[in-house]
This record gives sequence, structure tokens and C-alpha cells, in this order.
Amino acid sequence: MTENDGRFPDDFLWGASTSAFQVEGAAYEDGKGASIADIRTKNEAVLVSTDHYHHLEEDVQLMHELGLKSYRFSISWSRLFPSGSDKTANPLGINFYHRLFDLLKQYNIEPIVTMYHFDMPMGLINDYEGWVSRKAVDAFVRYATFLFEEYGPQVRYWLTINEQNVMVFSPDILGIQGENSRDIFAKAQQANYHMSLAQAKVIELCHKTQPHAQIGPAISYITALPASMKSQDLMTAKQMEDLFSFSLMDVAIKGEISPYYNNMLKSNGIVLETEPYDKKILKAGIADFIGVNWYCTTVIREKGTHKENFFENIEKITDPDLLHTEWDWSYDPVGLRYALQQLQDRYPNFPIMITECGWSQRESLTNGKVRDTNRVAFFKDHIYQIGKAIADGVNVISFNLWSFIDLTSVNDGLEKRYGLVYVDWKNGSKRYKKDSFYFYQQVIATNGGILK
Ligand code: BG6
Repeated sequence: MTENDGRFPDDFLWGASTSAFQVEGAAYEDGKGASIADIRTKNEAVLVSTDHYHHLEEDVQLMHELGLKSYRFSISWSRLFPSGSDKTANPLGINFYHRLFDLLKQYNIEPIVTMYHFDMPMGLINDYEGWVSRKAVDAFVRYATFLFEEYGPQVRYWLTINEQNVMVFSPDILGIQGENSRDIFAKAQQANYHMSLAQAKVIELCHKTQPHAQIGPAISYITALPASMKSQDLMTAKQMEDLFSFSLMDVAIKGEISPYYNNMLKSNGIVLETEPYDKKILKAGIADFIGVNWYCTTVIREKGTHKENFFENIEKITDPDLLHTEWDWSYDPVGLRYALQQLQDRYPNFPIMITECGWSQRESLTNGKVRDTNRVAFFKDHIYQIGKAIADGVNVISFNLWSFIDLTSVNDGLEKRYGLVYVDWKNGSKRYKKDSFYFYQQVIATNGGILK
């Protein structure tokens, strides 16, 4: 692709994403057990939500009409293993995902399957504090082994853990509780370590048992911009990116924990519990590609309060020149190109799959239509910048926008909509195609050509 010709590689995977607890509904139906996501979301949003569980055929038919080449979704761990430690899997749960795989195959849509998206079975959290305990490593490997055996032949792209970094940053998503913020922070770092070990083991297992498949993590990358060109602000922005995103990319791509992350632990007085062979485990589980969830840039600076914890010492500044969502996420397409080029500099030619990217707003129907002009513009501008990054040599293999359909937000319930398909929550979850649906349909049909 040459710059500005607007075309993407012929085998580019144009996709869309969702996650289980955010779309399925049926939170306690057909034998499914509670996950931390169900408990944390607390409202009826997870009980019905998009009700994808009962609209499966209709939804995959819409994906087909949209022209999707790939669909990124997650499997609900507690739909298969209600308590997390059950000896056998729940047959109704197994069957639900087989139906989904079969439908995707029928329409030639590539499944991109996330194993774990914020929804650890509550049983494991109640039994031993979930990821805080090393027992969770084995539980995740058992679960992944089952996924490989049951669904392996249908899957070419696996994603291990969605946004490990966001969970560590918001430890309530891991179900972590503690006596004080210091205690919670230390537990979250131990959980982080266990997730990295579990992921490495699962990657190694995938390489051994699923030679036709590729596997990687999905990591949140919030591109941090310095508040000024002063070296201290540049350093703060760099540290933010290093500690929040690159530390985990380094684990997945290099198989090691970077010195800057270890230094952060040291300066917070945290000593992780490790075992002698852990370094070998990490080295044996190197990802094939990196999933990147990218939404926006954020301008940050140091507060100057000199707290030991770096993350407590920074503040976000809103750039008045950029448009923001109601929830303060910026609209910064050039930021995406910059982010992709940063990844290329850091991990030359390593395959990048954009696993999330999208625009949220409140919306309502007018005569059965949703004129989501901002979202259309958002995708137009951001996809254009991805094209430029590809022309500059960044190895982007797929773009999966967030989200295929309106769903329950992680923190903001049902009002915050991201979908290409509108869901009328009050009227039987009826679906309507938004303007962005038709726009993305054209993008896919022309392989990006309409962006020229
Ligand atoms: C990512 C998550 O953090 O961002 C998604 O992987 C989430 O699950 C998305 O929905 C948007 O965040 P929010 O809080 O607006 O739902």
C-alpha cells in the first residue's frame, strides 16, 4: 500500500468486537455461574443487556450483512465452568458457543476468541482471592486446555486475557479487596504476575497443541502525551506508557519483565512471590501477535506531590482543542497513527491486531434511525490514519472496532453506546442499523478504498 491510496492489504481482517458479559445477558441462565463482572456491574444490565444469548442467529446474520471478515468475542468462563473449579463443563454453555462458531463458519467470518474478558468466575474469587493466588494460574490453564480441545479446530486467532493492565489499575475488576490502598496495590501486582505466568503457559500450550492457530494478549494502550515539551513532562508521559502498556507488551513479546517495572515495584516496597522456574515459563510463552485496544490519547503531567506510587502522582489534563466524549475520551486520530508507529519502533514488524477502538455517546431512535455522525467521522478519520501507518510499514493485520452492537459499558451501564447496531433496551432488545453500520459496510466492501 502506498501512502494515501486508501487501500489495505488484501487479507486484512475487518472486524468488530464484543465481550461476553457485555452482550450475552442470560447471566444466570442455562447453568451459568456468577462472574465478578456480573456482581460488579450490579444492575439489570448484565441480566438482559443486549440479549445476544437469545438473538444469536439474528446477530450473526447482521454481521454477515455488514460484511465482517472477523468477529472478536469472548467466551464466558463461568458459562462453561459455573464455579470455576467444576470437574466437567456445562453442556448448555458448550453448545451455545458451538452454535456461534457454526454460524460464523456458515458466513465465512473469522472468529477471534478472547478467553477471559473481565469475568473471572466468582467461585475462584471466593475460594482463594482469584488471581492473587497462584492457584488461579492452574485454573486458567485448565480452562484454556478445555477451550483448545473443544473449539480448537475452529479457531485461528486466540486472545488470552483482555486488558490485564486495566484490571490491575482497577483491581475491583479482579475482585481484589484489601485493608488499604497500599495493600490493594500490592495484591494487584501479585495478580498481574500470576496472569502473566498463566498467559505464558497458555501460549506455550497453544503452540504445542494448536499449530494452525496464533495467540496473543489484548492490551489497553492509552497513548500518553506530555503536558509540555519539558523533559520532566516527556519523562512522565513515557513512564506512564511504559508502566501501563509496554510493561505487559514486553512480557508477551520478549518473555521478560522489564527493569523499569521491577524498579516501580521496588520503590513501592513490593516483593512478588515467585518460583525458581518462572523466568523460563515467561520465555517459553511468547505471543504471535499483539492485540491493542486503542481509544484515545491522554495528556498527563506530574502533580508534584511526590508520592511513592507513580500512578497517584499524575494528573490528566483535558486538551481544549480536541473533541471529547461525554466521558472525556478524546477524538485524536493522528494519535492512533502515532501510537502505531511507536509500537513499530519498539517491536519492529511485530503483527498488531487492533482489538478495540470506538466512540461512545448517548443515543436515541428517530423514526427508526440513528444518525451517529460523530461515530461515522471517528471511524473515517481513525481508519484513514491506520492506512497511513500501514503505508509507513506498521504491520497491522486486523481492525476490530468497538463495538459491533450496543452493549453494557464496563462502568457506565446502558446509556453509553458504542455499537454499529442500536439496541432498544425497552422493547425486546429490538435491533436497528445505525448510519455507522452502513458506513463501515462500505469501508469493508471497498477494503478501505472509500477513505481515499
Ligand atoms: C475496554 C474494554 O476497556 O474499553 C471493554 O475492553 C470496554 O470491555 C471498553 O467496554 C470501553 O469502556 P467502557 O467503560 O466505556 O465500557
